[in-house]
Amino acid sequence: MALTIDTITSLCKRRGFIFQSSEIYGGLASTYDYGPLGAALKRNVKDAWWRAVVEERDDVERLDAAILMHPRVWEASGHVEHFTEPLMDCKGCRKRFRADYLWVAAVTGPEGQNWGEVGPIQAPSLPEALESAREKKFKKKPVPEGTKIEARPLAEATDSENVRCPECGGALTEAREFNLMFRTTLGAVEASGLEVYLRPETAQGIFANFENVLTTTRRKLPFGIAQIGKSFRNEVTTKSFIFRTLEFEQMEIEYFVMPGEDEACYEQWRDERFQWYLSLGVRKENLRLRDHEPEELAHYAKRCADVEFLFPFGWSELEGIANRTDYDLRRHAECSGKRIEYFDQENDRHVVPYVIEPSGGVDRSVLAFLCNAFREEQLKNGKRIVLGLHPDLAPIKAAVFPLLRNRPELVEKAKAIAADLRRHFPARYDDTGAIGKLYRRQDEIGTPLAITVDVDSLSDQRVTVRHRDTMEQDRVSIDQVAVFCKDKLAEMRREMTG
Ligand code: GAP
Repeated sequence: MALTIDTITSLCKRRGFIFQSSEIYGGLASTYDYGPLGAALKRNVKDAWWRAVVEERDDVERLDAAILMHPRVWEASGHVEHFTEPLMDCKGCRKRFRADYLWVAAVTGPEGQNWGEVGPIQAPSLPEALESAREKKFKKKPVPEGTKIEARPLAEATDSENVRCPECGGALTEAREFNLMFRTTLGAVEASGLEVYLRPETAQGIFANFENVLTTTRRKLPFGIAQIGKSFRNEVTTKSFIFRTLEFEQMEIEYFVMPGEDEACYEQWRDERFQWYLSLGVRKENLRLRDHEPEELAHYAKRCADVEFLFPFGWSELEGIANRTDYDLRRHAECSGKRIEYFDQENDRHVVPYVIEPSGGVDRSVLAFLCNAFREEQLKNGKRIVLGLHPDLAPIKAAVFPLLRNRPELVEKAKAIAADLRRHFPARYDDTGAIGKLYRRQDEIGTPLAITVDVDSLSDQRVTVRHRDTMEQDRVSIDQVAVFCKDKLAEMRREMTG
């Protein structure tokens, strides 16, 4: 059965990965909290990124800029003017919709009969709108062969009858442009305070600090600045769990190069960032690189490509890699009145560097890794759900159980093994169920190895190590179990990295 986003959402809640924010008060839309396992998974994603783009290279510096910046930053960057979306409000239920997410579909029967319209439909893309129209029209009955379903944006619908709210059927306002930045006021007195924005991207903190980093590190071009941090966008979202949220984390690099060297550098980052997802176990069939058509490019970009993942709701962006030219540094120089340049000693001239920007989302990556890892297996004695996470991403690397929890010697030994393993990697002791149940729980949260201490362990000083993916078991001497687990994790890493 095809994986749905609801299946992932319910696993995340059931096992403590991700919860709806403020759930006890009825929840806050498009806002989520990471639970014990989710926080660990997210941390592992950020660590893997940091290792790959900062620690394993010597040309990228770190930065941790403030979320609040001078409001003129956002004038310079173009966000005040351009960071908008067309929205329509329902005059009845007062819900707000993105105008470009509303569709109407016309259905034509196999012999060309007009079967009327389905709509309005709320969907972020044409394929999803068609799928939704199909479901609405045929309510899970088979669609007769030769049926044609075509959808068009509701905003372009000529028939005013169609311009209706998808939730309550009420009339909708005209589409109006809304800025996506959250605003707040600095200072104790609201009326006299300075209006500032919660940053909608981490990138501008890097551009605004370019000179500071350049002079303090004495870097030569090319070099990059990397940062991970929260960003905020007042998005009108449809149900897509943590794919699009109001508050999210970005992992961004601004890589500064000599003009003229930008094209080759762009190609390198484009390929490298694609490989990073594969190296963490994303299957090839779930990942693609899509180059933007010239008409899709943002006003500052010379070239751009998206790394896309095949989510249950279709192919969608995980990360964008853009050649932003010298646009940002020039804009900040113009708006601040400060010189923002690099002195090219070799040619004795000042240049404004070009920028290559790989910009990814932490939360989106977490969702992609979860979807990619999820599988259901039919076994002789029922089904098991497995999260086949890459070992670097798995929140817990090994779990240790006593076969019988009412035997203190087994409990004590299992706890001691777990404590020893924790010196090497995250390990967990668990005795809250029968052994079969404990295995299933660890499979479902992606733990690569499960270790059982049984009665024989007391005499032969050996334990059983079970492997998540194959369910094969090895009998391993207790004094060798840490080394054995580390080797196994390394083997898995090699296999999954390809
Ligand atoms: N500095 C460039 C920039 O911010 P973007 O394509 O708007 O580019 C980069 O965002 C990445 O941030 C996206 O590829 C996505 O992974 C993540 N992202 C953007 N908006 C998001 C949202 N509302 N919720 C979750 N992640 C988001």
